[in-house]
Amino acid sequence: MNMSYEKSAADTAREKGSRAYNFSPGPAMLPLEVLEEVHERFLDFQGMGASVLEISHRSGEFMAMASEVSQRIRSLMGVPPEYRILFCHGGGHMQFSAVPLNLMGLKPGRLGLYVDTGNFSRAAIQDAEQFGHVRVIASSADTGYDRIPRIEMTQLDPDASYLHLTSNNTAHGTQWFDFPEHTPLAMVADMTSDIISRPVDVSKFGLIYAGAQKNLGVPGTSVVIVREDLLGHALGHTPSILDFALLAEQDSLNNTPANFTIWVMNLVCRWVEQQGGLEVMQQRAEERARLLYDVIDNGGFYRGYAAHDHRSLMNVCFTLSDESLLDGFLAQARERGLIALKGHPTRGGVRASLYNAMPLEGVRALAEFMRDFAGRNG
Ligand SMILES: Cc1ncc(COP(=O)(O)O)c(C=O)c1O
Repeated sequence: MNMSYEKSAADTAREKGSRAYNFSPGPAMLPLEVLEEVHERFLDFQGMGASVLEISHRSGEFMAMASEVSQRIRSLMGVPPEYRILFCHGGGHMQFSAVPLNLMGLKPGRLGLYVDTGNFSRAAIQDAEQFGHVRVIASSADTGYDRIPRIEMTQLDPDASYLHLTSNNTAHGTQWFDFPEHTPLAMVADMTSDIISRPVDVSKFGLIYAGAQKNLGVPGTSVVIVREDLLGHALGHTPSILDFALLAEQDSLNNTPANFTIWVMNLVCRWVEQQGGLEVMQQRAEERARLLYDVIDNGGFYRGYAAHDHRSLMNVCFTLSDESLLDGFLAQARERGLIALKGHPTRGGVRASLYNAMPLEGVRALAEFMRDFAGRNG
């Protein structure tokens, strides 16, 4: 087979002695210290003489490490004692089914309320419709998912089993900043793209879930944080591997877990602790996002997608006023080692994903490139 390999920006950056700044929405940039530790310890997990990939999940060493990561998440997020932390297969999409399978049965009407804020909430809605009744109580579809819609307390039907929302909309660049208070029913949040990026009051939620591949590490597992009183109501046909009560009973070791993912998650959570925890993550996130939104707001060359007060700190989505310049923008960014900036297919344009591991220097480099590109093409 004759394949021509384009030299990647990452290669160029490596030759220059640095890594590319990777703005990928996920799998996403990891802290360099974590990657180095993975590299260093890959062949020998805790002195066992075998790699983490080769050891039993029932070995004392693995079980202790899995319990450590769960403790780290509990302490980082301030998860109250009456919540269980589970590791589940299948990433965010699996939870789109697992959540209704486990929670629809909380009330006889089997009704889930959903807030539609973009492609991933839509996907969650479609999957939930297989398992019960779904009512979309608010949507920002009519304004192109540029905001988080308002919800009124009167919409929170107490006969519903739960309310589902997506805390950060990765493709559209919007984020919830004020979660509903005192909801009369269990509030469920898909935090796949902003978990451990800021403090949240876990006690407001009945259940939080997140795929690991953004702020928590690498793909293969989702973390589920669930209040104990919501366990034990799974619908009759729930596969055992998705039954949260069974997972809680067996400390998520009902079958072979994604051992590598869980190990990396432990290293990532330890790194977040060492950096100072979630307040520090939030300060950094605000600082990073501000650098890019300042460029977007000034000069008129770039156009942000999201309404001002709803703009995500994790995914900055924008386009160029002259969209014919987009390919050139992306190609020149790549040449400078600023990679993976192409917008989500449903949205187009540019998306800069700025998760916890993105150094400020990376965002400064992107902001400088944006100003320079605008200066040359404006
Ligand atoms: C907010 C959100 N939810 C769900 C998903 C789906 O996750 P997965 O690809 O692990 O199924 C994503 C993926 O990017 C996401 O950003």
